[in-house]
Amino acid sequence: MQAVMQESYGGPEVLRLAECEQPSRRAGQLLVRVMASGVNRADLAQRAGSYPPPPGASPLLGLEVAGWVEEADADSRFQPGDAVFGLVEGGGYAEYALLEEALAIAKPDALSWVEAASLPEAWMTAWFNLVEKAGLAAGETALIHAGASGVGAAAIQLSGLLGARALATAGSEDKLAYCREMGAAAAFNYKRQDFAAEVKALGGADVVLDPVGAAYLDANVSALRPDGRLVCIGLLGGARADFNLGALLMKRIAILGSTLRPQPLAVKGRLARALEETILPALLDGRLRLSVDCSFPLAQVEDAHRYVEENRNLGKVVLTQFPTLAGE
Ligand SMILES: NC(=O)c1ccc[n+]([C@@H]2O[C@H](COP(=O)([O-])OP(=O)(O)OC[C@H]3O[C@@H](n4cnc5c(N)ncnc54)[C@H](OP(=O)(O)O)[C@@H]3O)[C@@H](O)[C@H]2O)c1
Repeated sequence: MQAVMQESYGGPEVLRLAECEQPSRRAGQLLVRVMASGVNRADLAQRAGSYPPPPGASPLLGLEVAGWVEEADADSRFQPGDAVFGLVEGGGYAEYALLEEALAIAKPDALSWVEAASLPEAWMTAWFNLVEKAGLAAGETALIHAGASGVGAAAIQLSGLLGARALATAGSEDKLAYCREMGAAAAFNYKRQDFAAEVKALGGADVVLDPVGAAYLDANVSALRPDGRLVCIGLLGGARADFNLGALLMKRIAILGSTLRPQPLAVKGRLARALEETILPALLDGRLRLSVDCSFPLAQVEDAHRYVEENRNLGKVVLTQFPTLAGE
């Protein structure tokens, strides 16, 4: 099969389409002919060599796919020819990928391949961290950093769905407008505004969802209200911080963190059900919005990575391969 391969770690230019062996399915898995796969920030880190795949996972890039079931267990709830989407442990940038049946979701006709492939990583990450880790409740305020990222756009909207108020940060005026379109009550440009002061002026945050890390630690704790929860999901601004623990005591702050990829199948399965049973219906009836920026053919994966690396995307970027059906 064709897949995106790399002979060395490095920039987007190390990526190329090449022939490799098709993955072999184990019981409990679906072999999926991939029609579209989402691009995630983690793929850029894996390509560069700083985020190795977990043991046993495909060494190929790609954490979410949508496509046709090609093979399934005889007693599977899916059959060859069914359209599905879901989170994969790796290997999404390929003609065929393995999807655990427990993570597979039937693709509704109303969603395109691109739209379906854009959903799992962003929404499952937002749900895991806002609902399960931080316990965001109706009436609370969530501060969502990188609000125009794939995860950020989902997290702003999920806050609203939960009855919470979302505030957001981003690095350009068009991204701030996008955050407001996604439902943020206010959005701040972290390059020229003191977001902690702005958030405090609006009453403070009960939860902060933070992919930036060290560079934001002091400001995040300052922006939090008493009993606030800071959930660290990324280290775009560094991993090590010199931090005064006093504020944690005085405000009873909890600092949490998580990564989705190495979670046990049972946890990911629970998050897939939340996507299927709560998020998907709300996307289909218009309570939530899809947030796809653009798509690139798989052969242009280098351009797709460059686009994301240059922080140009508002929402998700998706790779497409439509080898058998024109257009879709
Ligand atoms: N822990 C987990 O399980 C998990 C799962 C999925 C994603 N994540 C993390 O969540 C983040 C978003 O992922 P994604 O795939 O949705 O990302 P994405 O769409 O690629 O967007 C990331 C955005 O972050 C902003 N950014 C980049 N460097 C920054 C910095 N140093 N300081 C502040 N903002 C910065 C940029 O927007 P601006 O133009 O606004 O600066 C960029 O467009 C990433 O850090 C990713 O690793 C974590």
